[in-house]
Amino acid sequence: MKTLFSGVQPSGIPTIGNYIGAYKQFVELQDEYDAYFCIVDQHAITVPQDRLKLRDNTKKLAAIYLASGLDPEKITLFIQSEVPAHAKAAWMMQCVGYIGELERMTQYKDKARKQNQRDGISVGLLTYPSLMAADILIYGTDIVPVGEDQGQHLELTRTLAERFNSKYNDVLTVPEVKHPEYGGRIMSLNDPTKKMSKSDDNQKGFISLLDDPKAAAKKIRSAVTDSGSDIKYDKENKPGIANLLTIYTSLTDKSIQQLEQEYADSNYGTFKSDLGEVVEQFLIEFQEKVNHYLESGALDDILDEGAVKASRKADKMVAKMERAMGLGRKR
Ligand code: TYM
Repeated sequence: MKTLFSGVQPSGIPTIGNYIGAYKQFVELQDEYDAYFCIVDQHAITVPQDRLKLRDNTKKLAAIYLASGLDPEKITLFIQSEVPAHAKAAWMMQCVGYIGELERMTQYKDKARKQNQRDGISVGLLTYPSLMAADILIYGTDIVPVGEDQGQHLELTRTLAERFNSKYNDVLTVPEVKHPEYGGRIMSLNDPTKKMSKSDDNQKGFISLLDDPKAAAKKIRSAVTDSGSDIKYDKENKPGIANLLTIYTSLTDKSIQQLEQEYADSNYGTFKSDLGEVVEQFLIEFQEKVNHYLESGALDDILDEGAVKASRKADKMVAKMERAMGLGRKR
């Protein structure tokens, strides 16, 4: 069975963009792969975090993974900092990567620009993609389902794996990236040229998975739309409506074509009001499941078992990498 790996940061509560771009794909793929899902808390501390909030978000993220429909009997769910192999391999990957290639990462440039005004930029923010490459490579991962914003990091992961294999020994699998057909980049509700992000200063731009469902419906109703009145999927000329159609098709079993037909004679108001109801209902049901997991007491056991299982697999690869690089004694 092939191996799948993906991760989400507990730097805030995930948005419906994260759900559509990541979690939904995870659920669709869980039966076909030996799947590892990680709460990447070590990535979160590359920018300042409140200690208590980070702990709370980490736990909520575990519940959100499961509420999305992942079955803990089939998959491995764990917290990055509880599996030491990640940090060990990250150091090795830092010594394989070059400063120049890290400085070219657009996410680094964006975050560094924002951070600069506040507290300065941590070394971790620059070397973040080395940790991400380590996350993926220590499981011998074949496929990484992610949203489109992670494409550049995945390209670098492939480059680092190939460089490691040719410089040392052929031990790493070069992974493939997988983006969803629709919804690989859900856009902000108040500016459809910008990615929807949980760290947006404007609350109207995103819907968090734990937002009040009625307030979320309101955000949809007041989403920025385009000039004209046709409900057509046209990313170039109608980015606002295209984004809302993508959200609609992702949360229901209706295709974009079906939605275009259904709303052929409707105006934006009716369309947005209906989508608001879809989102509201989705969040009500989703949050019931999240609360169930948070209250069930099973979460800690699932995460404990996940860390043991993940370590068992990752430690073997880390040992191979260390041997290839000449670290430690020959055993
Ligand atoms: P993160 O936590 O920012 O996002 C988690 C996942 O959600 C996707 N995503 C989106 N998809 C569609 N539309 C959006 N607006 C949107 N925003 C985010 C992301 O592409 C991602 O799939 N560096 C990663 C976490 C990570 C990781 C890994 C992922 C660390 N190690 C190894 C895969 C494999 C990140 O910051 O994702």
